[in-house]
Amino acid sequence: MLRFDCTNALPFLPENWLSSRLEGLTNARSLLETGSGLGGAFTGWVHFPETYDQQELERLLQTARIIREQSQVLIVIGIGGSYLGARAVLELLTSPNYNLLCQDRPQIFFTGNTLSPDALTELLDYVRPRDFSVLVISKSGTTLEPSLAFLLFRQLLTEKYGKSGARDRVFVVTDRRQGGLRSLADALGCATFSIPSSIGGRYCVLTAAGLLPLAVAKLDPEELLSGARDAMLRLRQPGQDNPAWQYAAARNTLYQQGKGIEVLACYEPSFRFFGEWWKQLFGESEGKDGEGIFPASVEFTADLHSMGQYIQEGKRDLFETVVHFAVSGASCPLDPQDSDAQALGYLRGRDLRYVNDQARRGTALAHVKGGVPNLLVTVQERSAYWVGQLIYFFEYTCGLSGYLMGVNPFDQPGVEAYKNNMFALLGKPGYEGLLPEVL
Ligand code: PA5
Repeated sequence: MLRFDCTNALPFLPENWLSSRLEGLTNARSLLETGSGLGGAFTGWVHFPETYDQQELERLLQTARIIREQSQVLIVIGIGGSYLGARAVLELLTSPNYNLLCQDRPQIFFTGNTLSPDALTELLDYVRPRDFSVLVISKSGTTLEPSLAFLLFRQLLTEKYGKSGARDRVFVVTDRRQGGLRSLADALGCATFSIPSSIGGRYCVLTAAGLLPLAVAKLDPEELLSGARDAMLRLRQPGQDNPAWQYAAARNTLYQQGKGIEVLACYEPSFRFFGEWWKQLFGESEGKDGEGIFPASVEFTADLHSMGQYIQEGKRDLFETVVHFAVSGASCPLDPQDSDAQALGYLRGRDLRYVNDQARRGTALAHVKGGVPNLLVTVQERSAYWVGQLIYFFEYTCGLSGYLMGVNPFDQPGVEAYKNNMFALLGKPGYEGLLPEVL
């Protein structure tokens, strides 16, 4: 099991930081496990890793093979939870440079998460001369950004392959029964997969929404699910030694002490989008009713030369959570000469892995001294199994934390505010007269 270590936060925590929260955690656990708390109808992800339909998984792997065979490029259309998880895991398990390195697999581009004409036109121009397929992911099937991107890419597919050719290149992941995308997919007759109605967007990376694009990249869905399943079995055990209980209690205590910002850090550039996924998970789950820890993310050591100054000496209202992979991947031996002009001789015989790890240790010590509590999550390695554990660990902690905070961790009512104004400005029927006066 992954490990949680709060040794570097203990100087900031009262002695009873965990014991005083055991009752709250016991209650939060029971609400999560039974689906009887606020938003309980959306806790289907809690037991999903053990209930996944094996036949559906086979069909998903078969569909991924078809997409691979017929496509140089896969366009994945989705926003929020309908893309961040897939992109996070793709980059973490391959590379941020996946599209440059993916020789025997299609390139994968994520869109439908913007209304920028420049960004969409650029991608349409890129795929026009290439063989491509489109995977549209939207739980509600009504979100404007992916709907518009799908419209544009569908037009291009039809121009290029004709109506029936286009149908064979469209793949849809949406709610089993409801929504505009479900009706459209049924009308087109294209291949579809569903996101269970009991699983909300930001908790759906281990459903077809994340697993299908990842399988196209030849990442193993079964390994991801197996890691998540092992984490599920461990984290459902109540008690003080439960890593999710410890993380939730430490966050909650620090928050009560006025630490309103959590900075997620990792020393692997491939982790960057995992940070984006994590920010949505915690930001949308906790940020409501005037509550919530503001989630931020940094990539070290790069951001030690941009955000490092603030973290070290800025306003003392933050804490840091570091994700560390115990076994780092490539070995990169260093062999500088004693006479090296940049004075690197002291590193002779070392490996870059060692240097990166000392940077991590040195930074933690500096930040703790500077007044920033440091939480550490250690994962064995960057593999599908361990990333499955990490995903489930964060999701489970997020559910516990939301209930500890007294909010509904499974809704996002605040997202509607911008949509209502935008639709009113765009003249969408039903939104007339909804604009606030300040406009
Ligand atoms: O967590 C959520 O539910 C949201 O962030 C959604 O993922 C996001 O708004 C996209 O919604 P949909 O998949 O319905 O297009």
